[in-house]
Amino acid sequence: MLSGFNSATLTASSIKGYIMATKAKTKAGRVAERKTSRSQTPNRKKETQPAFPSAIDLLEEDHRQVEEWFDEYDELKKDDDRKAELAQKICLALKVHAQIEEEIFYPQAREATKDNDLIDEAVVEHATVKNLIAEIESMEVGEDLYDAKIRVLGEMVKQHIKEEEEELFPELEPAKMDLEAFGKELAERKRELLSEMQA
Ligand SMILES: [Fe+2]
Ligand SMILES: [Fe+2]
Repeated sequence: MLSGFNSATLTASSIKGYIMATKAKTKAGRVAERKTSRSQTPNRKKETQPAFPSAIDLLEEDHRQVEEWFDEYDELKKDDDRKAELAQKICLALKVHAQIEEEIFYPQAREATKDNDLIDEAVVEHATVKNLIAEIESMEVGEDLYDAKIRVLGEMVKQHIKEEEEELFPELEPAKMDLEAFGKELAERKRELLSEMQA
């Protein structure tokens, strides 16, 4: 039973109002907590714009980009050249993204959150994604099942992204990960891998 209400006053809108107020309060509380803990750290970060995106911003940018490419592919009818170009971009971006997460991000997130189940699941999902990418890369656009494989890859990747953004990322800030420092590390490794894999 929600405290602060008696059954006579329980209406849908009052419950909604109560939930929103509770959420707002909790969020405000968290923000205040974060501010307090930051102000207690001896070397307070400067207010200037960071040179690199935070780890979360960088990973979310990658997520939005591949989602956009999958959606564009989905809408194409017979444009095989564009399909091939998009498939190549998607596969390259996903391989680089998976590798920076596995090499840098997941180990740090595992350490910070201690949520082994979540990270183990993500690693297994990556392996499945990488197998499908290898199959796609060994095929030509227009072959039987090519479009279906891209579609299934898109569904798997979107589900994986949803889990990362809704379950894993929210655990990171309270776990006190230095997301700006990891952003720099991720951005540098991403650049390196992109040039290696494109060579
Ligand atoms: Fe991932
Ligand atoms: Fe990701």
